[in-house]
This record gives sequence, structure tokens and C-alpha cells, in this order.
Amino acid sequence: MSDHEPNGRPSKKDLAFIHAKKQARQKITMLTGYDYPTACIEDQAGIDIILVGDSVGTNVLGYASEREVTMEDMVHHLKAVRRGVAQAHLLVDLPYQSYETPQQALVNARILVDHGADAVKLEGGLEQVDTIRRLTSQGISVCGHIGFTPQTLHQPGRKARIQGRSSSQAIALLESALAVEQAGAQLLVLELIPEPLGKAITESLRIPTIGIGAGRFCDGQVLIIHDLLGLTPFHLRFVKRYQQYRELTLQAIAAYKHDVEAGVFPGSETAFEMDEDERLKVEQWIAQARQNIS
Ligand code: KIV
Repeated sequence: MSDHEPNGRPSKKDLAFIHAKKQARQKITMLTGYDYPTACIEDQAGIDIILVGDSVGTNVLGYASEREVTMEDMVHHLKAVRRGVAQAHLLVDLPYQSYETPQQALVNARILVDHGADAVKLEGGLEQVDTIRRLTSQGISVCGHIGFTPQTLHQPGRKARIQGRSSSQAIALLESALAVEQAGAQLLVLELIPEPLGKAITESLRIPTIGIGAGRFCDGQVLIIHDLLGLTPFHLRFVKRYQQYRELTLQAIAAYKHDVEAGVFPGSETAFEMDEDERLKVEQWIAQARQNIS
């Protein structure tokens, strides 16, 4: 799947591109992004989908739960990320209680689309079918999200629990996945479910599945960028850390503090020169001013 146009320019990754990847059995890459510089880097790295997730609440805003995230928060971060994304598909979460009815969902999804979202994501399975139908019938692309759904299941301070371990729960999730697809969703996030269930759902759907803690067989994978970079203070089993951001940043800040306190930074190599004649004129002006005062 080429992500470049015939003229060599990078092309915008639309849903057709993402669906074609599933057809071609090429893995889809997705990461959360909450700010402009990170979005620029993710886009430059060729990530297919950037998700302005409501995980912005716990990862960036210091909230105890995703439930505290508002539409205003989402729009603020969406606008920053939009400015940094040229190529990736830009997916944005509808926050908690912003889609209680299909009509409310439509109003809020339109706000996100108006601010640059290519698609919106909402949590839930069978219970969201009417809402998904409403949004898609109005031309809004929807990504579903089933399994562990933080807006309803996250309890501050408690570990997220794997969903769908029993056959009855697993079948309910499979039915939800099929219903979400039938209602018109174009993508489906599967969070924290056993690998065999992730595989079964992926093989049962035409639309791509994007897994997080859902095993190896989903069509794509998503991680929270802070987990990947090692900025999150705890380690989760389903996360692979690609950088020790927290430790490296702590070292960098401690080194800066040391240099400032020791007078090592700024050094002469960072200081700006002044023409000697001009400097002398300033010195003379100061001397004159002091004489006038005394
Ligand atoms: O908000 C978020 O970051 C998410 C991902 C965990 C998929 O929904």
C-alpha cells in the first residue's frame, strides 16, 4: 500500500487507504497524540491514524479519570493536533456523556469534524447502534470501541480488567462487534481482550480492528504515546516501551539545574556579542546618569 501519490508527495490517509491495508494484510499503525509537536513527529514517522483520545485527561491534564474530559478539552487538543497532521487519518474521541442520545452525538460529532476530525470514536457495542447509524447516515465516519471501555469501566486507582474471558462475555463482544459494523462503523478498537477473541472478531469483520492489549491478530495496533515513550510512571503488560522518556527527561533537567547553579550554563558560546563602540557609549551613558543622580 503506497502512502505516496504518483508525484512522490505523501498522500492523505483516508478510510479507503486504511481498509485497503486490511485487504492486503498489512498492519495498520495508530497512536494517540494530544499536542502539535508530537503530532508532527507521528505524522512524519508515517503513523496511519492519530487518535486524539480522551486518555488526554489522565495522561496530559492530570484528571483522575476519562470521565472528567469535556468537549472543550477535546476541541482544544484536536485543534493543536490538526495543525501538525498532514497525512495521517485524524480520529477523535467523543468524551464521556457527549453522546447520550443520537441527536446529542450528532451535534458533538459535528463540532469535532468542524475542527478537523476525519472520524470520531465512541465507546460501546449494541447499545450504540442507533447512534452509530445516525452519525454515519449524516456522513460522519465512526470508529467503535469495545472490550475495556474506560469511560464506563475505568475506576481511578484500580487496574483495568481484561474483558471477554468467559465464553458468554466473548460471544456478547463478538455480537457487539458485528452490530457496530452493521450500523456503519468503519473501524473498531478492541481494548484488553484475550488474543483468541481479538482474532475471532478480526476474522469476522470486514472493517479493520485496531487492538490495544488484544493480541497479535488485530488488523492494527494502537498505543498511548506516553506509554510507548516511557512517560507513564507505571508499566502495563500489554505495552512495549520504546524509550525511557521519564528517566532521560529527569536526567536532562537535573543536568540543567546543576549547570545553572554551578554557573556553567549559559557559557560564553551561547552569549551574544556587542560592538565595542556601542558598549562604550552605553557605559558612558550610565556614568553620566550616575553623576546626574549624585
Ligand atoms: O483514549 C484513548 O487513548 C483510547 C485508546 C486506549 C484506544 O481510546
